[in-house]
Amino acid sequence: MAKIHIVGAGPGSPEYVTPIARKIVQKAQLVIGSERILELFRSDIKGEALALTAKNFKQIIRYAVECAGKGVNVALISTGDPGFAGLLGTVAKSVDKDIDLEVTPGISAVQVCAARLRISWDDAVLISFHEGADEHGKRRLLEAVKSGKTIIILPDPKCFTPKDIAQYLISHGANGETPVFICENLTLEDEKVSRGTLRKVPLQGQGTLCVMAIIPSVKPG
Ligand SMILES: C[S@@+](CC[C@H](N)C(=O)[O-])C[C@H]1O[C@@H](n2cnc3c(N)ncnc32)[C@H](O)[C@@H]1O
Repeated sequence: MAKIHIVGAGPGSPEYVTPIARKIVQKAQLVIGSERILELFRSDIKGEALALTAKNFKQIIRYAVECAGKGVNVALISTGDPGFAGLLGTVAKSVDKDIDLEVTPGISAVQVCAARLRISWDDAVLISFHEGADEHGKRRLLEAVKSGKTIIILPDPKCFTPKDIAQYLISHGANGETPVFICENLTLEDEKVSRGTLRKVPLQGQGTLCVMAIIPSVKPG
């Protein structure tokens, strides 16, 4: 059966790329990922490399499936872990059953966020708004805040930013003093972790990558 490797690349630092991810990329004849992620693997890529964008996504995935069908060794690289707001979900929906997807996990930005905040995330609610803020996601968010759970969120950088999230929650009855953490550019040189509240969300840098954590159990102050 034709196979496509979907490989997690970690949050962005080369130190967070796993040795097995490098091995898979080194063996691949076709490597696909965003420009930022391909750069992380520059010295490992031996085959053809294609930069994935929102615009060419469907076309490139179609090409990857076609190549895999002809026996080409294909690696799709996803930021963080492929299974959380990563390539796995979208690719699984767009390929037929006759393609085997082999998934190699990577370190998610969510894991790094939890590590930086020194929280255990056994009971945390994870929500991604990366592909837009739908009603289902907003309802899960509200319920989680009201039940006092730790929530780790990938905001939508355009339409549902950390500030929008805080405003939404306050306007639906959440306590404005609930502690909020903004983790920017995790593992990168300009990593920044800031603390605030729903009422006073720390300002984000322009165009930074960001994870937001809402932790009602942390004492105010
Ligand atoms: C398409 S999602 C990919 C998430 C990825 N699969 C993961 O497990 O981390 C992209 C979002 O992840 C978050 N993200 C990825 N890398 C990050 C980093 N280095 N620092 C902070 N947030 C990051 C941001 O919210 C970004 O908009």
